[in-house]
Amino acid sequence: MKRKQDDIPRSALVPQSSPESERPRIPRAGEAGSDGPGSTGAAADVVRSVVLGNRLLFAPLAGIADPAVRVVARMFGAGPLMSEMVSAHGVARGKSKELVQQTGLVDLEHPLAIQLVGSDPLMMAKVAVMAVARGADSINLNMACPARKIVHGEKGSALMKDPPRAREIMVAVREAVQAPVTVKIRAGWDAESVNCVPFSVMAEEAGMAAVIVHPRTRAQGFSGRADWSLIGAVKDAVRIPVVGNGDIRTPDDAARMVETTGCDAIMIGRGALGRPWLFRQVGRRLGWEVPPVQPPPQAEAAVGGTEAIDLDAAEAGVRTELARLIRLQVGLALRYKPELLVVNEIRKHMIWYSKGMPDSAKFRAKVHTANDVPALWALVDEFFRDV
Ligand SMILES: Cc1cc2nc3c(=O)[nH]c(=O)nc-3n(C[C@H](O)[C@H](O)[C@H](O)COP(=O)(O)O)c2cc1C
Repeated sequence: MKRKQDDIPRSALVPQSSPESERPRIPRAGEAGSDGPGSTGAAADVVRSVVLGNRLLFAPLAGIADPAVRVVARMFGAGPLMSEMVSAHGVARGKSKELVQQTGLVDLEHPLAIQLVGSDPLMMAKVAVMAVARGADSINLNMACPARKIVHGEKGSALMKDPPRAREIMVAVREAVQAPVTVKIRAGWDAESVNCVPFSVMAEEAGMAAVIVHPRTRAQGFSGRADWSLIGAVKDAVRIPVVGNGDIRTPDDAARMVETTGCDAIMIGRGALGRPWLFRQVGRRLGWEVPPVQPPPQAEAAVGGTEAIDLDAAEAGVRTELARLIRLQVGLALRYKPELLVVNEIRKHMIWYSKGMPDSAKFRAKVHTANDVPALWALVDEFFRDV
């Protein structure tokens, strides 16, 4: 079934990396200019611009999509970015490292959502205030994570089994911050309790600015297929924007999701790993505006000069350009993380970038031998050179 797509006014598109002073101010509930969730006024446009932007969202991926990775995705057209999940309990107890790290490149990431996971409404509200103070443009509530240690604490997707508690969290956070608050959910807990539709209606009533639907149950984890028909069912039930997520690997997948569900925006995670250009490819396929973004000047030294990354060449798989992209990503990460951690974390990205190339198996075997940045550069220069 082909569905009508809501048009987002061009004026609502946020300029990438807009400076603090130019960032749109979101009116508080009840304040002049605030017209509440689901409305169509100017304030709703501002909320849409922060939450949906160019409608191509990069999914939160804990342990993978750190600020440096997100900035690279942004260069290739990803719109609003979202942090890895941050434990509200940890931050509220004084362990603010996670929050500090997730906002390490906040100046380059606007619009950025900080995603919080937790079960205590007051703690979530307190940490949401801290996140906004550190530059978050919106707050996302994680009610989707299936990990055992998360759901055992009545957090993440466990909240889909406890809508009253979930609602309390939504209301507490919504009342604590001026920034828009969104929620990321699953289909439900298991096949017998698929409740994403009534849960989304509740989220709308609780003041959420948008709902992001990853339509797998908690029981499915990341296996099986995401049931996109549930995204369409949620879209039919609420007036707030609906973001569809799950299993988009190609521009055609993205087009199919938009056509069959009518979702307002899409969110892509695993499909963009080692292929950040997927965002611009999807933008082209859907005719959605994807302004090219140059690497931030602060990071140029990391790629050994002032020449911008050639996005077309990187997309075409030109190895020397991929080497520059990896250097840029490492340079960005070194701005806020220790070297050893950066080196450990970049390895999996290098493997993703090398996927499908001749000799990539040999490269994979060697990647783990690099323990510092010079060793890393030697490997990168050896493998990612024109052949
Ligand atoms: C390694 C990994 C880490 C993830 N971390 C988060 C997270 O921190 N917060 C969250 O809401 N979802 C997380 N997700 C779920 C993704 O955001 C996304 O919903 C899911 O991967 C489906 O989208 P995709 O098929 O485009 O990857 C994670 C998924 C994976 C595979």
